[in-house]
Order: sequence, then structure tokens, then C-alpha cells
Amino acid sequence: MVLPPRKDSLKWGTYSEDVLPLWVADMDFPVAEPIQRAIKERAEGFLGYPPREGDRELKALLLERTGLEGEVAFLPGVVVGLYAAVAAFTAPGQGVLTQVPIYPPFLAAIREQKRTVLANPLKETETGYRLDLSGLERLAFATRLLLFCHPQNPTGRVFTEEELLALAQIARKHDLIVVSDELHAPLTYERPHLPLARFLPERTLTLLGPGKAYNLAGLPLGAAVGPAPLLEALKRHLPHTFPNVLALAAWKAALQEGEAWLKGVRAQLKANRDRVAAWAREVGLTHFPPEGTYLAWLKTPFPQAAARLLREARVALNPGESFGEGYDRYVRLNFATYPEVLEEALRRLTKALKGA
Ligand SMILES: Cc1ncc(COP(=O)(O)O)c(C=O)c1O
Repeated sequence: MVLPPRKDSLKWGTYSEDVLPLWVADMDFPVAEPIQRAIKERAEGFLGYPPREGDRELKALLLERTGLEGEVAFLPGVVVGLYAAVAAFTAPGQGVLTQVPIYPPFLAAIREQKRTVLANPLKETETGYRLDLSGLERLAFATRLLLFCHPQNPTGRVFTEEELLALAQIARKHDLIVVSDELHAPLTYERPHLPLARFLPERTLTLLGPGKAYNLAGLPLGAAVGPAPLLEALKRHLPHTFPNVLALAAWKAALQEGEAWLKGVRAQLKANRDRVAAWAREVGLTHFPPEGTYLAWLKTPFPQAAARLLREARVALNPGESFGEGYDRYVRLNFATYPEVLEEALRRLTKALKGA
């Protein structure tokens, strides 16, 4: 089934009709049928407060599926967890480490709470982006907290066992707490996602959610998983709300019955990823195909690239500069759309790039 674009969505409703929106991280595909069914069933029943702990069965399922250990707390959304982590583990004026380029709310959670971003840029190598471990080590003494993103948004990097082990070693040596946003974990291609907590269980809080993999961002819900003392510290900085019961039902259905749908979507995303990578080669853009996520990070020849491509190609992409300083020649392209939409966007982008 092909969904018509919705004007009442952020993705399709922000720009004028002639613009193709390949920006904010929603997929254009309809939600899995078992999830739709679970939401309808729940809506026909009780919509009062859920139990204080949310849904125990879902908590058990999350631990079982991810292999994570420890306690689980539901969050009103994953970004709320990032803000709470900054508040819980640092004080105003202190630094917070993160790898850049990075999903903009990481930077906002640090800056808006009057902390300083300690930016650890990913290293660009001939085969893609890598953690800069020596850079990380140089900054690690100056903070208590690392906000990690894995799979990484916007580069789509899925970090290797080797990198995660090295990171764990640095975290232990420098007494760091790591909050690892693993929201995109179900969306990896060749290599499976390895949770950081497997290598650093005593110091990691993992953030999860159904929003990206199951396309449920408008029904926000997340979870933090990890050792009880860290989780208790986080919870003191969370708003006193109950998890949304429709979102709980949706996430449970996703884990119990969403695998076939996810497999199909992954295949489509992988084909789109390969198409974008081939196109980037053709037009000569620096690009490393993402190992996970449905986001492509592309380096263009011009400054303020997203604004220019919006103007000249009528394609909306996320501006690189919102992912950290010095990235204004980059754009993030969301390829979770139908092949016809993607082709038309690439055609328009090619024309604008050739005219450069
Ligand atoms: C890495 C990452 N974290 C968090 C979010 C947003 O999560 P939520 O809507 O649950 O706050 C996104 C959305 O794209 C994301 O890519």
C-alpha cells in the first residue's frame, strides 16, 4: 500500500507543494498491520492510567529482545531521556562529551541546560567514519558524561565490537557514565547491532524506542535500560507522567508481531541506501553508505548546502550545520520513501549539482 503524503505531518506539511521532503526522520510507509490492530483494540477499551511501572510484559520483552540487563523505565520519548541524563549526571558549567556530527537534540540537551559540548568529531577514513578514540581520551578527563549515538545519526555508522570495547575501556579509566541512544538499533543492514552495554554494563544507560524502526514518532515513547542506581538518578529528572497506553500497545505488538513487516521495510531501505550510494558516486559527492538507519550523510561542494538545494532543486534535506560546527557543506537525506519519490529527488538534485 502506498500512503498519500500527509499535509498534516511535519515532513510533508512544512514546505510548499513543489518541494520533495527528504528530511525529518519519519518513513513514508504505513505502520505494520499488527501494530494498527493493537492500537485500535486498545482504543476500543480502557484508556485510563496504566500501572505505575507501565507494562511489565513489555519490559521483559525489551530485555529479552535486546539482551540488555538491569532495570527498565519508560520515557515520554528518547530525547526526554537525553535531557534528563544531562541534568542527572552533570552540573551547569560542566562539559558533556558527544561524537559529532550528531542528531541536533543532543547538542540542544547540553547547551539549553547550560553545559558545554565537548565535541569528539568522528574521523573520516577511506572506508568511512570511525570513533576517534585518542580524541575521546583527551576530552574524557573533563567530564562525567558521554552521550553516545549507536547506530549513529546522521552518519549511519554501526560501531564495531573493537570500537565499543575500546570505548568501554576509556569510560572505565576516566569514570564516565555513558548514555547510549540505540533508537535505530533494529535498522541495521550487513552487520547486527551490538549494544554498548554488552561491553560496559555497569556504566551504561541504553535508550530505546519504537519510533524509528516502527515509524511511530507521532506516538512517542521510549525506555531507559541499565543498572538501578543510574536509572534511579535519571528518573529523578524525568517528568511525572505515565507512559501513553496506545504507544505501549503499539510497541508490544511491534516486538511480538512486527518482525515480518520490519524485514520487508529493511529490504526496501537497503535497496534505497544502495541507490543513494551509487548516485552519490555518479555525481561525485563524498558519502559513506550507512550501515544502519535510513539516513544518508552527504558532503556537497557548497556552503549552506541544504538551503541552496532547497532553493535550486526543490528538495528538503536536513542542513549539516545543525549537526555540529563546520558541517554546513553537508546534508542529511532521509531515504525512507518510495523508489519513485527517491528517483525524482535524485534527478532534481543531480540537475542542481550539475548547474553548480
Ligand atoms: C538518534 C535519535 N534519538 C532520538 C530521536 C527522537 O526520539 P523521540 O522522538 O522518541 O524523542 C531520533 C529521531 O530521529 C533519533 O534519530
